[in-house]
Amino acid sequence: MQTIDYTQKIPNNVDLKSDRRLQRALEAWQPNYIEWWKSMGPTDFNEKDVYLRTAVSVDKDGWAQFGYVQMPEYRWGIFLEPQEKDRIIGFGDHYGEDAWQAVPGEYRNALRRIIVTQADTEPASVEQQRLLGHTAPSLYDLRNLFQVNVEEGRHLWAMVYILQSYFGRDGREESEELLERRSGNPDHPRILGTFNEPCEDWLSFFCFTCYTDRDGKFQLLSLAESGFDPLARTCRFMLTEEAHHMFVGQTGIGRVIQRTCEVMREHPDADVREHGAVPLEIVQKYITFWNSSSNDLFGGEISSNASNFFSNGLKGRAYEEKLDIDHKALEGTYSMDVWEDGGLSHQEVPLRNAMNEVLRDEYVKDNEKGIEYFNKVCERNDVSFRFRLPHRRFNRKIGMYADGRFDIDGNPVDEATWNARVGEWLPTQEDRDYVKSLMVPCYEPGKIASWIAPPAKGIDGKPFEFEYVKL
Ligand SMILES: [Fe+2]
Ligand SMILES: [Fe+2]
Repeated sequence: MQTIDYTQKIPNNVDLKSDRRLQRALEAWQPNYIEWWKSMGPTDFNEKDVYLRTAVSVDKDGWAQFGYVQMPEYRWGIFLEPQEKDRIIGFGDHYGEDAWQAVPGEYRNALRRIIVTQADTEPASVEQQRLLGHTAPSLYDLRNLFQVNVEEGRHLWAMVYILQSYFGRDGREESEELLERRSGNPDHPRILGTFNEPCEDWLSFFCFTCYTDRDGKFQLLSLAESGFDPLARTCRFMLTEEAHHMFVGQTGIGRVIQRTCEVMREHPDADVREHGAVPLEIVQKYITFWNSSSNDLFGGEISSNASNFFSNGLKGRAYEEKLDIDHKALEGTYSMDVWEDGGLSHQEVPLRNAMNEVLRDEYVKDNEKGIEYFNKVCERNDVSFRFRLPHRRFNRKIGMYADGRFDIDGNPVDEATWNARVGEWLPTQEDRDYVKSLMVPCYEPGKIASWIAPPAKGIDGKPFEFEYVKL
């Protein structure tokens, strides 16, 4: 079960060949996927050798193997964590019952919606990032971009496997539609807002992988608790891949900050722009934009959907099984500031209705650690600038705070104040133009662009100078 069968057309550890119908359905979808990759993925680099890791086993150690691969030849496949014996449902009204190995009829539509929403983000991010290969600051970064891209492609495979094996004809139709929606297309957009935002420069890419992929981590953590066992198992393995995406984002932003700090130290009286670095204020605005947009991905603060997903055992809290908490969450309340009639009032909300907020809390906590890391970079360089997260009410498009305007500390402000100050908080056109002007590719092995510091170490024990992509 553990070892992945690479002799098959579709590598897998789910004994796909024993289910001929499913195998045929997935083999029929495969060319459409490749077609999508070739038109919507990093198209101009499809013939290049990229030093990529591929999953070879789902064991804790040694699941990855590194080697040169041309991206369309990447072995996208289906990998689930092994089935846990006698697993029970860990939360909600079905707490303590056997986990479901088939889709429970009454939750079929809700589950399908959850899976399709998660699935849609995977190809969306590949589409958002498809042109970034033309402006990478180094071969190391170029390789990391492509690694993230192929793994998001694999995450799509993971979700499509679940759709096709458990949702019959509906699942097959959904799988086709996942290849038809397009990020940012006004007529046929991706499902969630952040996944339609343009991501056209590398600072945005790092912020995306830091904040939007981290939303992915928490969505996967909550689905990894699902009473629907195949979904839980597939999400557990996806989480191991997700960790690298956040590493790319977190260290990427950190390296931009490091470079700017170095320039500030060398030229204390100059504008860092004269030396091709990104002012820390602009880095902060990019963080603020992507973080606030990604906050929306957790959904409304008070949500009957979230309550139902929890009660029905479909979507738990992050780390639900490990935590010593009331797994039914029937009694507790959650205190939050409710935005009503233009004012905030403190209210106690039934815990089940606040499940989106509970998950967002975990997300914010994780992000705060990331901010500490950025501030350590400043401290180490004797630079007094300090980074921060925007308040979760800031710049929201989803949930109750979307009806108001809030400053970066979460205080309500009127429209005029918002308009006057938004340029202090979010990137202006001028900021974006400046960042864009820095996006010049740097593809000589061992060289790096002016606006970012090299990484502390390379990939797979290789030095930074290694030829990660053969152009
Ligand atoms: Fe993903
Ligand atoms: Fe990701």
